[in-house]
Amino acid sequence: MTKTKILVTGGTGYIGSHTVVTLLQSGYDVVIIDNLSNSDTDVLDGIAQISGTKPVFFEGDICKKDDVRMVFAAHRDIEAIIHFAALKAVGESVEFPLKYYYNNVGGLISLLDESVNNNVKAFVFSSSCTVYGQPDRLPVDETAAIRPESPYGNTKWVNEEILKHTVASGIGMKALSLRYFNPIGAHPSALIGELPLGVPNNLLPFITQTACGVRDKLTVFGSNYNTPDGTCIRDYIDVNDLAEAHVKALEYLLKPESEPYDVVNLGTGKGVSVLEIVSAFENSTGEKLNYTIGNRRPGDVEQVWASTSKAEAMLHWKATRSLKDTVLSAWNWEKHYRSKSAT
Ligand code: NAD
Ligand code: WQD
Repeated sequence: MTKTKILVTGGTGYIGSHTVVTLLQSGYDVVIIDNLSNSDTDVLDGIAQISGTKPVFFEGDICKKDDVRMVFAAHRDIEAIIHFAALKAVGESVEFPLKYYYNNVGGLISLLDESVNNNVKAFVFSSSCTVYGQPDRLPVDETAAIRPESPYGNTKWVNEEILKHTVASGIGMKALSLRYFNPIGAHPSALIGELPLGVPNNLLPFITQTACGVRDKLTVFGSNYNTPDGTCIRDYIDVNDLAEAHVKALEYLLKPESEPYDVVNLGTGKGVSVLEIVSAFENSTGEKLNYTIGNRRPGDVEQVWASTSKAEAMLHWKATRSLKDTVLSAWNWEKHYRSKSAT
């Protein structure tokens, strides 16, 4: 039987690489396009070691139509796209908004044009809980007000709207926007994981880099929030749970009865504070973390976690990994990566 072929944009990136592994293990054929602006082709070896298959890889920029055409010319049988390729640094997007609109919005438009020309049936889009800003009610569900607070966040919302309108124009393609909460962790093999360039913005990579001595100490951004321990609360989801949700999203979209366009939260439904993450890290790894309490980080929302009812009902999916195992996987990946780089 021929396998369903999926184009994964941004497939050498953090969430993309874990999703490619899950897709290959679930019996899909995978073609990746990535311009390597925030990843490396070494990731392909990690994927091959875990899954036993090296996916087809094109180095290319989705903003360039010729690059996207090159992929479709070689693979006319692509049935669906999972679209991860984007820039994601919130602070950088405030400094260089046009870079973000060009890459993230321009990229989607170029990709969609070629998807329509090539009869792609299903399109899964990486959106973000950042579209909610600070919600009025928690857990936040998909009907909540949209209040992106950065150019990056706005590219996610604009892209959701572009997808909704494109699907509504009757092109025969369905789409699902997945609003991820805070993805953390790495593959249990420690062969792939998160690889931030330079100083990490996100909490978990900052913690693992501090514990292995690359950073001096973690600064906890604010301890006077209106939360039980005074630190901010997020919904941290294991990247492998997230990867599995993408396979469920594809299965859903490829069913005749699915809605043509929809949005769904992908989180655990549990809020966890910064200090609880620090404790989880110390308890599961046995490492002592050097940290200090600092000022609030401008732009941080106080607390957000997901309502997961829609994902459970629509995708028959629920996050299952424990926070303890997830932070341990991030630590094992960091150690593996550092030992590899040292040789
Ligand atoms: P990542 O940077 O690790 O992966 C993105 C990949 O896309 C990178 O490999 C990069 O080289 C590639 N890329 C960027 N622009 C491209 C272009 N124009 N053409 C081709 N390739 C391009 O990021 P990630 O954490 O894996 O995020 C994947 C997606 O999920 C992004 O759309 C991001 O906005 C979204 N998201 C991420 C988070 C998070 O916290 N990691 C949360 C919510 C949503
Ligand atoms: C988590 C918590 C920080 C670093 C970002 C993007 C968002 C989405 C997810 C893509 C916060 C605290 C962090 C540190 C700290 N990405 N922290 N010290 O802010 O929820 O969201 O990633 O769509 O758009 O903004 O994640 O990992 O940066 O922070 O105390 O050195 O950890 O204040 O409370 P955030 P994060």
